[in-house]
Amino acid sequence: MRNLLVTGGAGFIGSNFVAYMLERYPDYRIVVFDKLTYAGNLDNLKRVEQDPRFRFVRGDIADREAVREAMRQHKIDTIVNFAAETHVDRSIMSSDDYIHTNIKGTCVLLDAAREFGVERYLQVSTDEVYGHIPEGHSSHEDDPARPRSPYAASKAGGDHMVYAYFITHGVPAIITRGTNNIGPYQYPEKAVPLFITNAIDNQPLPLYGDGRQKRDYQYVLDHCEGIDIALHHGVPGEAYNIGSGVETENIVMARMILDLLGKPHSLIQHVVDRPGHDRRYSVRTDKIQALGWRSRHSFAEALEKTVRWYVENEWWWRKIKTGEYLEYYRKQYLERK
Ligand code: NAD
Ligand code: TYD
Repeated sequence: MRNLLVTGGAGFIGSNFVAYMLERYPDYRIVVFDKLTYAGNLDNLKRVEQDPRFRFVRGDIADREAVREAMRQHKIDTIVNFAAETHVDRSIMSSDDYIHTNIKGTCVLLDAAREFGVERYLQVSTDEVYGHIPEGHSSHEDDPARPRSPYAASKAGGDHMVYAYFITHGVPAIITRGTNNIGPYQYPEKAVPLFITNAIDNQPLPLYGDGRQKRDYQYVLDHCEGIDIALHHGVPGEAYNIGSGVETENIVMARMILDLLGKPHSLIQHVVDRPGHDRRYSVRTDKIQALGWRSRHSFAEALEKTVRWYVENEWWWRKIKTGEYLEYYRKQYLERK
């Protein structure tokens, strides 16, 4: 493994992964292949752009010729696919882009993996494919996919194609299913960075429904380490859950953010719930732990680091919260009753 194609590497987790991998593996070269949608941002890659082992190619993973050209030109032997449409609320507004990228795009990458005979293909997936998990259960990798949002359904579709290509064509593919990530460079449509940046500006924190939904919020670099371990030590054809094992209610997360910033809890505003909202996700992680992975950050440490990063990096998020973002915000929060 020397020449990695990291698709979606200009997004939140992908860019953190690229920086982490370049530091950890001095002999790896990384090509980021990214369409630069509203969520893709070259600012996320500023810290690696001078590294001679790094290249950026702008392209759509569903564009077969563009993918093949990048594979050929850069002698790619490993694909790590982060590229996706990733926001549940936007997938409720329209699912077209989700099908295009998360299913069709995944298939194009799998075809390229097959054609170029890669050593490894890693599909970055999500615990949301398991759907809402009742109290008392935590999802095992072999549990059935029961996705309940268009986003989760499109990710599950991608997972199924990955497994089918492993069985049918022998593509040496591995799937990781991470829980919610938090940390630097997360687009401020997701709950944690949205709440932090709104709180900094003394704006309301729009909490869906009763706010008692539970998520396993893990620090992004813990997730990146898990992907690294699965990539190097995972068994082809297998899936690996990655998560902290700690469940936090959204209302608790919102209060902790306000406390860290010294803002009043009265900024929390209960708004109409998300349709089909999954109230709880929970995964078992014994399988990735057996490969040597451990979560390194408690939720409090992860949140504190994240809040500090947004406080110190207004240059990054202030310019995002303009234009298209404000239009989305208006549709999602101000016109929704
Ligand atoms: P993100 O929305 O921040 O970034 C997605 C990136 O993919 C962007 O840079 C975007 O430009 C790019 N992209 C979108 N469509 C593309 C296309 N057709 N071709 C090429 N590039 C395209 O997403 P993220 O939060 O960093 O998530 C990365 C991956 O991790 C996704 O596959 C997501 O499903 C998965 N995941 C995310 C979380 C989370 O909490 N954020 C948790 C588990 C799994
Ligand atoms: P989100 O960051 O969108 O991740 P996901 O839905 O993929 O888990 O949301 C995290 C949780 O926060 C989820 O339970 C929905 C909730 N939420 C709010 O209460 N208000 C918001 O404005 C958003 C975006 C999310």
